[in-house]
Amino acid sequence: MHDAAALRSIHLARFQAEPAIFAAPGRVNLIGEHTDYAEGFVMPVAIDFATLAGISPRSDGKIVVYSENYAEDRTFEASALPPRGSGHWSDYPLGVVSILAGQGNKIPGFSLSLWGDVPLGSGLSSSASVEVATALAVASLIGVTYPGPVLARLCQRAENEFVGANCGIMDQFISANGAEDHALLLDCRDLSFKLAPIPHNVALVIANTMVKHSVAGGDYPTRRAESEAACAVIASHRPGVPFLRDATLEDLEKWGHEMAPKSLLRARHVISENLRTVAACDALLKGNMAELGRLMAEAHRSYSQDFEGSCVEADTMVALAQDLPGLIGARLTGGGFGGCTINLVERDQAAGFAEALAALYATETGIVPQIHICHASGGAHKLS
Ligand code: GLA
Repeated sequence: MHDAAALRSIHLARFQAEPAIFAAPGRVNLIGEHTDYAEGFVMPVAIDFATLAGISPRSDGKIVVYSENYAEDRTFEASALPPRGSGHWSDYPLGVVSILAGQGNKIPGFSLSLWGDVPLGSGLSSSASVEVATALAVASLIGVTYPGPVLARLCQRAENEFVGANCGIMDQFISANGAEDHALLLDCRDLSFKLAPIPHNVALVIANTMVKHSVAGGDYPTRRAESEAACAVIASHRPGVPFLRDATLEDLEKWGHEMAPKSLLRARHVISENLRTVAACDALLKGNMAELGRLMAEAHRSYSQDFEGSCVEADTMVALAQDLPGLIGARLTGGGFGGCTINLVERDQAAGFAEALAALYATETGIVPQIHICHASGGAHKLS
């Protein structure tokens, strides 16, 4: 989409003011799931679905936020922002404004139009793309600039503190800092990162199971708590282990019997996933696609069986991909319990792969999936 001209027309018609326009992409994660909040490693890619944000100043001290996706607007007083979200889509942009205000920025009135094509609730980080696009737009309006990693942290805080979703840094980080044609290996402890080129003959085929995924509710916080409980057991013996990033598989052998059985399994996923993610980046840098595919398969097995973060439909989608020509590696991507699988596929086979996978999945589950052939895009930026 990325149709800045269309968003400009929408904004002009509604607010009678010329907007500055910014874009922030969604993401797909190649490997490294539920490792970010354990200060571990992730390897996401920004994709060519994005949220656009158009912004213009107002003189009445009001903040009016309009979503073209929801065909709805909400109005707030810039001088009296609510302390936290209310479970509405406007929580995401408003949370960012609230965090920017907490940084000592004086927030003036403005009109903000949002329009995105990141499929909602499908594990491709539509929320992070709204946050990062809003952050760029508001920062530009008030004349401040933040380095990409700082901007990402502010957006993560908006989601943690205002929206109330206990996510890690991955989604906001890749939306703000993605690089065209590259995957990004992020160390979630110090936010240092390494870019790994995606070979031109490899396509990212994203297959939506159409099972809705949500970070805010349900199983995501439960899994996080279970893995953190395992870490607390290890830390009671080895105080140098504040996060599972610092733990080893040997720690689990020694003290796993003191953990609830589910906690032990969750920790085994997180610890082994960190090892796989670093190895996957090495494989990608060396062009060893067979090894990358093997690691993705192992990551899916661990995510599904140890972390119990998958669902029947996602397991089916991954299994059906295995025998199709051109597959390099497939796994469930994102927060889990639904959403999309990521398939790395030989580019010249990608169209046939997508068609065959859609047909097989529909026959097997009775659900018609959406399948997108994406490319690794750049991070958030100003459009006009
Ligand atoms: C969601 C969260 C991320 C990360 C993933 C799981 O996308 O927003 O912070 O925890 O789930 O890897």
